Amino acid sequence: MTERPSIDFGHAAPRPAAAGPKLRPGKGLDVGTANLLSAVQDYEGNVIIKAQRNAFIDIEQNDFTRNMLTKMDVQYVVLNNKMIVIGDPAFDLANIYNRETRRPMADGMISPKEADALPIEKLLIDRLLGAPQVQNEVVYYSVPAEPIDADMNVVYHKGIFGDLLRKLGYNPKDILEGHCIVFAELDEDDFTGIGISCGGGMYNVCVAYKTLPALSFSTSRGGDWIDRNVAKVLGIKASRATALKEKGVDLRNPHTREQQAIDLYYREQIRYALAEIKKRFESSENMPQFPDPVDMVFAGGTSKIGGFIDVVKDELSRMQFPIPIKNVRRAEDPFTSCARGALVAAAADEDNPDE
Ligand SMILES: Nc1ncnc2c1ncn2[C@@H]1O[C@H](COP(=O)(O)OP(=O)(O)OP(=O)(O)O)[C@@H](O)[C@H]1O
Ligand SMILES: [Mg+2]
Repeated sequence: MTERPSIDFGHAAPRPAAAGPKLRPGKGLDVGTANLLSAVQDYEGNVIIKAQRNAFIDIEQNDFTRNMLTKMDVQYVVLNNKMIVIGDPAFDLANIYNRETRRPMADGMISPKEADALPIEKLLIDRLLGAPQVQNEVVYYSVPAEPIDADMNVVYHKGIFGDLLRKLGYNPKDILEGHCIVFAELDEDDFTGIGISCGGGMYNVCVAYKTLPALSFSTSRGGDWIDRNVAKVLGIKASRATALKEKGVDLRNPHTREQQAIDLYYREQIRYALAEIKKRFESSENMPQFPDPVDMVFAGGTSKIGGFIDVVKDELSRMQFPIPIKNVRRAEDPFTSCARGALVAAAADEDNPDE
C-alpha cells in the first residue's frame, strides 16, 4: 500500500451542510475523463446537476500565491506542501500560468501516471455530492464497459471509485456509462434501444432490451483521440485542436483544412463504433431479437459537434446494420445525460431497496 498523502484544507474549507430544497435520497454520479457530474432530485421531481472539470493544478506555496488565491476567492487544499486548486478554477489558473492542468483520469479510467489522482478525486466528488442525506445513501456511479482496443483494467477503476464513495459515507453501485444513457433517454421505449456516450476518453456503447444491457463495450477513441490525431496531421498542439473543434465546426460543411481534418477523424470514429456494434451483435450468442425498430441515442460532449447525427446516418446508410433503427438522435442535453441516467437508476433502487 502506498502512503496516504496528508491533506490540509486551506482557504474556505469545502462544503458546508447543503442548504436548499429537501432532496430525495439517491444520487447519480458521472465519472468522466474530462468532467465529473452529480445529479440529485427534490420531491417535486426537479433534477439538480452540478459539474466540475476533472482536473487540478499545483502551485508553489508562498505568501504571494496564497494572497492571490484568497483575493480571487479560489479554494485550495495543501497536499504534500503544494497548494492544489481543483475543478473549474484549475483551468483559469492554468491560463494565467500558461501551463496545462493535471488530469486524474486518462482514457476513461483513473490515470496510472498521476500519483495524486486519488485524493484529488475524493475532494472533487465530495464537493459535488456533499454529505449523504441518509446513512448509507445509494449513489450510482458510471463506469466504462470493457474496452475493445486497449489493455485497461476496468475492475481496478471500478473498485477504486467504489472504495472512495464508501469512505464518503455512501452505498456505491456501479453502472455502465452506456446503460446510463439508456436510462436517461429511452424511458418512452421501455428502456429498449442503443445508448452511446461519446466522451473525452472513449465511446461507451450499450444495447439494451427492456432495461437490461444485452451488449456493451467501450472504444478508446473519444474526443481526445480526435484532438491527438488532428494535432499530428496539422502539426499543432492537441489543446489547439480541442479549441478548434469546440469552436463550432459543422461536419456537414467543413470550410478549412483544419475542419476537414476534424471531419475525417469524426467519420472514422463513428464508423469504427458502428462497425463494432454490428460485428459483436452478429457474432455473439443470446442476442435479443428486436421485432420493432429501436432508437439509437447519442450523448456526451463529443456528440455536440454540428452535423454529428447526419454523419451517423450517413455511415449507417452505407452498412447493413443488424438492428432495425427507428430514430437516430442526440440527447436533448448530451452533457448531463449520463448523470441523469445514473440518478434514474438510483431512484429506482431507493424505491425498491430489496431488489
Ligand atoms: N461543442 C463541442 N464540439 C465538439 N466536441 C466537444 C464540444 N464540447 C465538448 N466537446 C468534447 O467533449 C469531450 C468531453 O465530453 P464529456 O464531458 O462527455 O467526456 P467525459 O464523460 O468526461 O469522458 P469519458 O466519458 O470518455 O470518460 C472533450 O473531448 C471535448 O473536447
Ligand atoms: Mg462520459
